[in-house]
Amino acid sequence: MSPLNILFAASEAQPLIKTGGLADVVGSLPVALSHFGHDVRVVLPGYPQAIERARPLHPVATLQIPGSLEPVRILEGWMGERTRIYLVDAPGLFDRPGNPYTNASGSDWEDNPERFALFCRAIVAIALGHAGLNWRPDLIHCNDWQTGLVPALLASEGNRPATLFTIHNLAYQGVFPRSVFDRIRLPKSLWAPKGLEFHQNFSFIKGGLAFADWITAVSPTYAREILTPEFGYGLEGLLRHRTDRFKGILNGIDYQEWDPASDPALPQHYDADTFDLKKINKLKLQQELGLPQDENAFLLGHIGRLVEQKGVDLILGILPGLVKQQNVQLVLLGSGDPKLERALRMVAAEHPERISAYIGYDEPLAHRVEAGCDCFLMPSRFEPCGLNQLYSLRYGTVPIVHRTGGLADTVVDATPRNLLDDTATGFVFSTPDQHALWRAVERAIEFHKRPPVWWEKLAVNGMKQNFSWDTSARHYQEIYWQAINAPAPNPLTTVTVE
Ligand code: ADP
Ligand code: GLC
Repeated sequence: MSPLNILFAASEAQPLIKTGGLADVVGSLPVALSHFGHDVRVVLPGYPQAIERARPLHPVATLQIPGSLEPVRILEGWMGERTRIYLVDAPGLFDRPGNPYTNASGSDWEDNPERFALFCRAIVAIALGHAGLNWRPDLIHCNDWQTGLVPALLASEGNRPATLFTIHNLAYQGVFPRSVFDRIRLPKSLWAPKGLEFHQNFSFIKGGLAFADWITAVSPTYAREILTPEFGYGLEGLLRHRTDRFKGILNGIDYQEWDPASDPALPQHYDADTFDLKKINKLKLQQELGLPQDENAFLLGHIGRLVEQKGVDLILGILPGLVKQQNVQLVLLGSGDPKLERALRMVAAEHPERISAYIGYDEPLAHRVEAGCDCFLMPSRFEPCGLNQLYSLRYGTVPIVHRTGGLADTVVDATPRNLLDDTATGFVFSTPDQHALWRAVERAIEFHKRPPVWWEKLAVNGMKQNFSWDTSARHYQEIYWQAINAPAPNPLTTVTVE
């Protein structure tokens, strides 16, 4: 098979702009794919942070996009040293403070549908060779609802590239009232139950799910879960209809950026052979976050967006029991829901000797928490893949996780049998409630009291797992070829015989 031109479309990418794991994937999967010889480029909205960090940039095209009052420039630059990037420069829509989706006080930008519709239309122009870039993709790899209109707008085009739509989180769908559909002047034909209509509303994500040649979700278990009403949010029927072109592929992680043996954010490097040195990171982290320095303390950590999905309320629920335990400490790093932010600040103020809460977003601190803790808490109610448990495994920080989505696919419970045959890597519990979480934490605390070689064995088992991109990137490559060789029919022009 010959090398492909692939355009990766997403609303965030590390190291330019990041709110969560999507950015990590968009920062690292293109690099892994380029190792197979493909020419992979990324397209992002021209947020100020991205423009700042991708310098030097130069304009390569100017587009007139329906609905845009100003001409839209395409700026070309590099993401790190490794990936060529296009930024869609529409200052009226993207040059603002805040993050890609919300203003500084955390509310969604009201014109999000306009912003991401314009982004999708610019991608379509590149896809069809209308931007004059002298480069045309064979496939557009779309990610999450912000890119959902791309497969829908391309489906009726003759000489179009193939499309793949990856679901990173089905809880975010980009659903707006019908009036928004009219306002952004999409082709009227797309307003149909088989198109972008979703219970009389307008759904961006349906553009991906109904029209893409192929669909993936970010872990095999999550791909199965979203075929059920519990996790499918009303889209399970459409996904079931598309199962012959739908697959779960586990995310990988960037083994260069997340490597305890060379991570520039860490006070002390270590690896599986020098595991003992990890405790220096614990002492330094305790010092940095104002906890009593004690290498024998059992240090639990949690990092994440403070939203219902992540189960931070379950962590809050187990705190009364936790602080009664001898010599157990907890560090929390996160931002999001103001109520949860307040609650974390309060518990930390009540138990300054035991709990430290850092409210905010701090990438280097996230690395130090991963390195300094003994255990990482991830009681997510659902988790499409989850990257923090993978970083934890890599850093010898034993994950405690709810058995769901990608967490179920990546962490092996420390049952006596799994410990015996050396497959155990963490503590897994089955129901997302605080009692089950507490029992798992108790198991971890008890296990930590055994001779230290036991704990080291468990942690080092995790460190030896391979969650690099190699295997998953190969799976994506196979799907790219299938999508290119056998495009899906346009659902709006296909007559189905029941
Ligand atoms: P999600 O994408 O649902 O937020 P993931 O586990 O896939 O969950 O990825 C989360 C990513 O965001 C990780 O790289 C994590 O370290 C990072 N992250 C989340 N919150 C913070 C924070 N407050 N400070 C630093 N990094 C954070
Ligand atoms: C989403 C999911 C998370 C996943 C990430 C990257 O934000 O919530 O589970 O790891 O995307 O795919």
